[in-house]
Amino acid sequence: MDSDDIKNKNWSKLAKLRGEDPAGKKPSEKPRDPTPDFKGSAKGEKKRRLEERAEEGLFDEDDFNHSSPPLTSRFDRGEARLSTKALHRNYHAIAELAGGQAILPMIKADAYGHGAVWAARVLASAENLYGFGTASLEEAREVRDGLGAKGRKTRILCLSGTTNWSEEKGQYCERFGITPAIASDEDWKRFLKGKWPERLKYHLKFNTGMNRLGISPGLVQQIVSQLKDKPGEWRPEGVATHMAVAEDPNHPLTKKQIESFKAITGTVKSPWSDTLFHLANSSAIWNSRHLGLEGWTDIVRPGISLYGVPPWPGAPIRGTDPVMELRYAVAARRTLKPGESIGYGAQFRLKGSDSPVEVAILAAGYADGLHRFNSGIDGAGGKVLLGGKMRRFLGIVSMDLSAVECDASTQVGDWVQILGDGLDPWTQAKAAGTIPYELLTSLSRRVRKTRN
Ligand SMILES: Cc1ncc(COP(=O)(O)O)c(C=O)c1O
Repeated sequence: MDSDDIKNKNWSKLAKLRGEDPAGKKPSEKPRDPTPDFKGSAKGEKKRRLEERAEEGLFDEDDFNHSSPPLTSRFDRGEARLSTKALHRNYHAIAELAGGQAILPMIKADAYGHGAVWAARVLASAENLYGFGTASLEEAREVRDGLGAKGRKTRILCLSGTTNWSEEKGQYCERFGITPAIASDEDWKRFLKGKWPERLKYHLKFNTGMNRLGISPGLVQQIVSQLKDKPGEWRPEGVATHMAVAEDPNHPLTKKQIESFKAITGTVKSPWSDTLFHLANSSAIWNSRHLGLEGWTDIVRPGISLYGVPPWPGAPIRGTDPVMELRYAVAARRTLKPGESIGYGAQFRLKGSDSPVEVAILAAGYADGLHRFNSGIDGAGGKVLLGGKMRRFLGIVSMDLSAVECDASTQVGDWVQILGDGLDPWTQAKAAGTIPYELLTSLSRRVRKTRN
């Protein structure tokens, strides 16, 4: 058989599979129907089959909005259970600590992995709400769309996605009702030159020592002069800075930042009497008495604490509760025998003299947000709560699967808990080689979110 014979043989096999005439023309030679009948097309056929299956109760409405079923797990795999009550409670606990200041919940990064639109809707009519904080303009737009007509007047402040300022970004803010924080000397020049203060509400963010974004404090006097003869509406609605070490009130940088911000607010207070001042993230809110913020700033910007994670390891919870419980399902059970290993690289192995070990295989890996650093090798690694006991990981956490020690009572379908249920988020994050901020924001689309 020469190579042409082989090609022809393969072609006729394929043609048969497709229900075509093997002696007929190859697809490239077939005239294409310029007006395919939708019903008869492959897409139409797929839709019809999906509809049939929906009637059998196999799919729900959502499946029709995707060309293929969504990636989020329908079957038990990873689940983030979110508590609306806890989010409300945390907001009110923080409002209490903020002593009458307005609240700007930070719902950037999809509300720290909890769902920005959900969080915005839950808190949209909370008392003392200033608005919502995002990092990117696109996040702000998502929240704007998600709030709909009811939230038309809600401020959405974009705190970092505005540099480098451009006309296009200005138009985007205008179109979607986004309040930008102008955060560099160059951006301020462009913002003013484009007459954006006339068109948009905005905040100015100053660099008092974090040294990432922010206008130089040395420019404040010049900005005051530049706005002096302009209408009052041209003034910024807010003036902000961001703290680098707010968890430590005695840190020299904390002291320097507070002093620098005090000087800025001192300069603008009288010419811009309506302007609102803010600097406090969760750590600064927790330390606000030490930092002397009471009666001086107007807005606080809680992030991590809103989701019930204390702002630093060992910090008091101050009436907050975890909003997210994160758990993964046991997909299989096995007994590891002496001399056997488990997972990639055979990194966990029983010696010939060891007793057998009961193992639960989790339908979860690093593509589900279960960090690889949890891997159980040489006695190190993370822990999960299973059947009321803390259990260690065995071997490498891989992309889709991982293994934990269990006992004979563990069954397929049981859940292991990695966050919530009294687990300390800082301890859990440390075992995963990270911090709760990263743990929460690295869940993938596979993880199902349920809300109550
Ligand atoms: C500008 C700004 N303000 C407030 C916060 C909230 O910080 P935290 O989550 O520590 O409360 C952040 C988050 O990093 C931020 O970038």
